[in-house]
Amino acid sequence: MKAIYVRNPGGLDKLELVDVAEPGAPGPGQIKVRLRASSLNYHDYLVVKGMIPTPNDRIPMSDGAGEVLAVGEGVTEFKVGDLVVSTFFPDWIDGEPNDRGFTRVPGDGIDGYAVEMVTQPATDFTRAPVGYSAAEAATITCAGVTAWRGLVSDGNLKAGDTVLVQGTGGVSIYALQIAKAFGCTVIATSSSDEKLERLKALGADHLINYKADPTWGATARKITDGRGVDHVVEIGGAGTLPQSIVASRVGGHIALIGVLAGFTGDFPSAMVMGKSIRLIGLTVGSRRHQNDMVRAIDATGLKPVLDKHFPLAELGAAFAHQESNTHFGKIVVDI
Ligand SMILES: NC(=O)c1ccc[n+]([C@@H]2O[C@H](COP(=O)([O-])OP(=O)(O)OC[C@H]3O[C@@H](n4cnc5c(N)ncnc54)[C@H](OP(=O)(O)O)[C@@H]3O)[C@@H](O)[C@H]2O)c1
Repeated sequence: MKAIYVRNPGGLDKLELVDVAEPGAPGPGQIKVRLRASSLNYHDYLVVKGMIPTPNDRIPMSDGAGEVLAVGEGVTEFKVGDLVVSTFFPDWIDGEPNDRGFTRVPGDGIDGYAVEMVTQPATDFTRAPVGYSAAEAATITCAGVTAWRGLVSDGNLKAGDTVLVQGTGGVSIYALQIAKAFGCTVIATSSSDEKLERLKALGADHLINYKADPTWGATARKITDGRGVDHVVEIGGAGTLPQSIVASRVGGHIALIGVLAGFTGDFPSAMVMGKSIRLIGLTVGSRRHQNDMVRAIDATGLKPVLDKHFPLAELGAAFAHQESNTHFGKIVVDI
């Protein structure tokens, strides 16, 4: 069977399609899965570029969806033929996050899902939403669960809240869709007027071009008649956080998720304190968060926005497409 390895020290030209041995039959508590799709995240990009160094050559990609080929003794949650989705932290089933960092994250600390088959513990997967294709399901693991945890599990999102989402990547579009499914008002930003029109078609209520309007935080505040937004899904990090703090209402919540606008920078701590802002950093979520999200998708019919599809052998081209920033939503890899 085929797999892609990223050879140290990384780079889009260091992705190599190779023949590897098919995994064996599942042991007790395990399932064997035929992967059908993966999807690209910025985290995967950092791994394949060598910006997150992995100790050895690594099979990249945290996200994987496919059908169950065989179940081991004692597995009752899945049966042969079920469509399943990988989890980001295989050891974090429920409750508080553990302190293992990324050491057991597929495609980073351990091999990921740019591969045709795996045999692993059944708990490394959840079921996919009813009616989802493998490509749609493969967008849930990282981007979907992050948006869900940021807004719902940590943010206590409720109908009537105003949510600010930044840009048109995987996490932000999921956040927009979750917020609309909950009956919220969404203020969406993008660097592109054309992408803003697409966000409007997805239900965004207010649009801001963050390139044309560098003080977009103040603009968002004006849109809320000076009250400020209830939630910000902060994917820029250091470079966007000051405007997010301006946009936030007193007692508002900022889900600190991304680093697209920098890893470190000036931090207006007095304003965060003065506005009693709840600034909550997070990395993806637990298996429980993923199961909760899958259940919510079944109930709401939410469908992810898929950008281009690439075959596994063209994973490098898929990342070059992500690098170009022309994508809208999730870039998918068919396996
Ligand atoms: N903490 C976590 O658990 C977690 C999980 C997933 C992702 N992340 C992080 O979240 C970020 C987004 O990830 P992703 O996978 O959604 O990325 P992505 O799909 O590659 O998103 C890229 C998009 O982000 C937007 N963007 C870039 N710079 C921006 C800025 N300064 N202000 C506003 N928008 C900006 C752009 O939208 P426009 O083209 O519309 O301007 C761009 O197209 C990354 O930093 C990633 O590492 C963190």
